[in-house]
Amino acid sequence: MQTIVLATQKGGCGKSTLAIGLALAAMQDGHTVRLIETDPQGTLTNWKRRRSDAEPSVVPVDGAGEIEQRLEIFVRNGVTLTVIDTAGGTSALTTAAIRAADLCLIPVRPSLADIEAAAPTLSLVRSCHTAFGFVLNQTPARGQRVDNASNALGEGETFEAGGDLAMPFIVMRNDHQDALGSGLAVTEYAPSGKSAEEIRGLWQWVSNKLGPVVQEADGVEYRAPPPLGAPTMFR
Ligand SMILES: Nc1ncnc2c1ncn2[C@@H]1O[C@H](COP(=O)(O)OP(=O)(O)O)[C@@H](O)[C@H]1O
Ligand SMILES: [Mg+2]
Repeated sequence: MQTIVLATQKGGCGKSTLAIGLALAAMQDGHTVRLIETDPQGTLTNWKRRRSDAEPSVVPVDGAGEIEQRLEIFVRNGVTLTVIDTAGGTSALTTAAIRAADLCLIPVRPSLADIEAAAPTLSLVRSCHTAFGFVLNQTPARGQRVDNASNALGEGETFEAGGDLAMPFIVMRNDHQDALGSGLAVTEYAPSGKSAEEIRGLWQWVSNKLGPVVQEADGVEYRAPPPLGAPTMFR
């Protein structure tokens, strides 16, 4: 099983929206998926209530010690991907989620304030030794603002970090909000739309970054090394 976490201290950047979008894109790609909700705001639980399909399950977790236990249960139940949504701010629960994950996605809107607000999350992710990628979300379709933001994130000007920037960028579109309101993901709500195409593309990026999970004969999983060409910091 592989685990991704969506985290950044700032609210409204798209953690919950991307968690749902990626979970459903992965399901449509053949994964058995569970969502873990660690945010008391309950965006995922409310979304699930509006949803008629049983899959994917949304499991609320409110204690830092519970994360690992929950993931172990998922492994035994044949889950292949877990997506963890986190609250804004800092907490032991978010730290535990980042520590347990194979990959942390940090959603950032294309504004300097948002980029700067991601810095403490990046420090936390680093201290947990978790691979990470920025996701530029709610961007205009094109323009200088997006270029500036991607340069700041991708070239490490802001963080002296050279963080990995996920592709493609996710454009601000009503489909994301309408899907959420209907208990759907964008790839279900408007499967042939541009938002769905971008989210499927983002899932492919995530999937490549995670690399294959190799199943050993005794049932123990281990991660294959990232493919050649991945940035050195992730090896
Ligand atoms: N790419 C996008 N296009 C349009 N609206 C978006 C997009 N991403 C997120 N939103 C909207 O922005 C708001 C905040 O997103 P949300 O996922 O709840 O952020 P967070 O979980 O980080 O607080 C929600 O109303 C959501 O529907
Ligand atoms: Mg949220």
